[in-house]
Amino acid sequence: MILDLIHNEVKKALTQIENTDSSKLDIVVATNNKFGDFQTNVALQHAKILRKKPLDIAQDIADRLQSSPLFSKVEIANPGFINISIDTQTINSLLTDMSSCQYNGISQTKSNETIIIDYSSPNVAKTMHVAHLRSTIIGDALKRIYKACGYNALGDNHIGDWGTQFGKILYAYKNFEHPTDIEKDSVAMLEKIYQEFTQKAEEDSTLDDYARQELVSLQKKEEPNYSLWKKFISISLKEFHRVYKRLDITFDMENGESFYNDNLQGIIDQLQSKKLCQESKGAQVVFFEDDKYPPCLVQKNDGSFLYATTDLATVFHRQNKLNANKAIYVTDNRQKLHFQQFFHISELMGKDYELEHVMFGLMKFGEGTVMSTRKGAVISLQFLLDEAEKRAFDVILDRDYSEEEKKEIARVVGIGAIKYQDLSQNPMTDITFTWEKALNLEGNSAPYLQYAYARAQSIHRKFVETFPDHDLKSSKYCIDFVDGGSSKETIEKELALHILMYGHAVHHAKNQNKPNLIADYLYQLSSKFSSFYNQVPILKEESQSKRGSLILLSDLCAKTLKDGLNLLGIETLERM
Ligand code: ARG
Repeated sequence: MILDLIHNEVKKALTQIENTDSSKLDIVVATNNKFGDFQTNVALQHAKILRKKPLDIAQDIADRLQSSPLFSKVEIANPGFINISIDTQTINSLLTDMSSCQYNGISQTKSNETIIIDYSSPNVAKTMHVAHLRSTIIGDALKRIYKACGYNALGDNHIGDWGTQFGKILYAYKNFEHPTDIEKDSVAMLEKIYQEFTQKAEEDSTLDDYARQELVSLQKKEEPNYSLWKKFISISLKEFHRVYKRLDITFDMENGESFYNDNLQGIIDQLQSKKLCQESKGAQVVFFEDDKYPPCLVQKNDGSFLYATTDLATVFHRQNKLNANKAIYVTDNRQKLHFQQFFHISELMGKDYELEHVMFGLMKFGEGTVMSTRKGAVISLQFLLDEAEKRAFDVILDRDYSEEEKKEIARVVGIGAIKYQDLSQNPMTDITFTWEKALNLEGNSAPYLQYAYARAQSIHRKFVETFPDHDLKSSKYCIDFVDGGSSKETIEKELALHILMYGHAVHHAKNQNKPNLIADYLYQLSSKFSSFYNQVPILKEESQSKRGSLILLSDLCAKTLKDGLNLLGIETLERM
């Protein structure tokens, strides 16, 4: 990666001056090309330790960097910055390496670590709602990003399939009338009888006791409850999997809460033997030192277990059976305390790997964004996806494609638009979804990026048609950028350098668990490509080798866009 190369050279120069800690060197892309291509403030950072004037240190480092063939120019600026210009031969050879690199210039970890990403995780026997959309989309992107960096990243859908809702559903299913029409045995039916139960229980509280008995019987795996429960789960999962398929989401495991049922008593036993929990009114509770967190209930007085108990069992299953080096949980920020509590308890119990909670805020829908849902009603995911495809279809209505092609474009654009609107924003913030923004062909949206890719592919096709005798694979053609300082060359160079920053952007996103950093990178790439496309006419270029060089650069940009969009789980189209 280009930044690594610069980093190494600067570090080498610095250690020649004095043996100082140079692990954290700040090297950034120059904000204006009159300051070169990259800038660093290492001289300022080290002035105190070296007891020298920043400008003197900067000059000393610059003199040493000057001799490196990587750089064409190294200059210093007040109060001690070093401005670095990259040699064109270096740029060309890095671009050529990246074109043939199977990892698209993303450096690969050598550690072979296993990272579990726990995402989506809806509660079954309910319709999947938009609230689970963010976890699904962000978690899937994180898994793709980790994989791209060479990790053994495994996705686990920790579905809520063992909770108290099943006692109620079981009671209702056995005792209430349920529909025999098309809704029979659908998630809609399960939801309906669940709601009916809640209403009736408000008037008759004995129902709750009955439901509890049903749950206890289920958790002992007694019949007919266990078989009925299996049936409910399979009805639910079938529906969820339809949504996952539309979203191109896959999991490596789908170990729901029920999977850990047989390990729960063991967790309580361990907590007791380690004196980490105490009895309180017949229940088992973990109290935290200095009341760091509120007490955490791990077993109720009726013997049943809780969400936290299951999560503790999950932590040790992943440790012992999956050899996890890290687990990342993706949920909304309302669960913050739950994660703090069981992370802390598992630490005390001897957990030996890293746990991280990636939180996100709410997704709100702008006024009038989603029509035909009653005010305040939760919007089901199927509905949202249908609406996205319908609206994307309207955007491309006047294009000259067959009905079938239009449908496919609408599908890719519509689903991409929903994902991108989520992934392009800092996960921590609440976001407001609007169709105008999601489908805006001019702005920071999936269709804008998809369009940049399609344009690059279209110019490639035109190139092949116009110059059928050009064999771009032959060694006659290579990326051979020349920096003469003309405005076209400046645009070309900006695009080239940005392409070379791809691997850095991916690692940066991974280190911070923020897919939006890749979205930012891709938006900038598309904008730079757009200027390049509009101002550097590739097909009109007279020199054959220059023409070849330009199309190879455009192809590499397309490859990078496709790879980056794929990390966000967004498909591309060859034509749009
Ligand atoms: N089922 C939970 C919910 O819908 C999310 C589970 C998240 N994962 C976990 N291991 N706690 O709120």
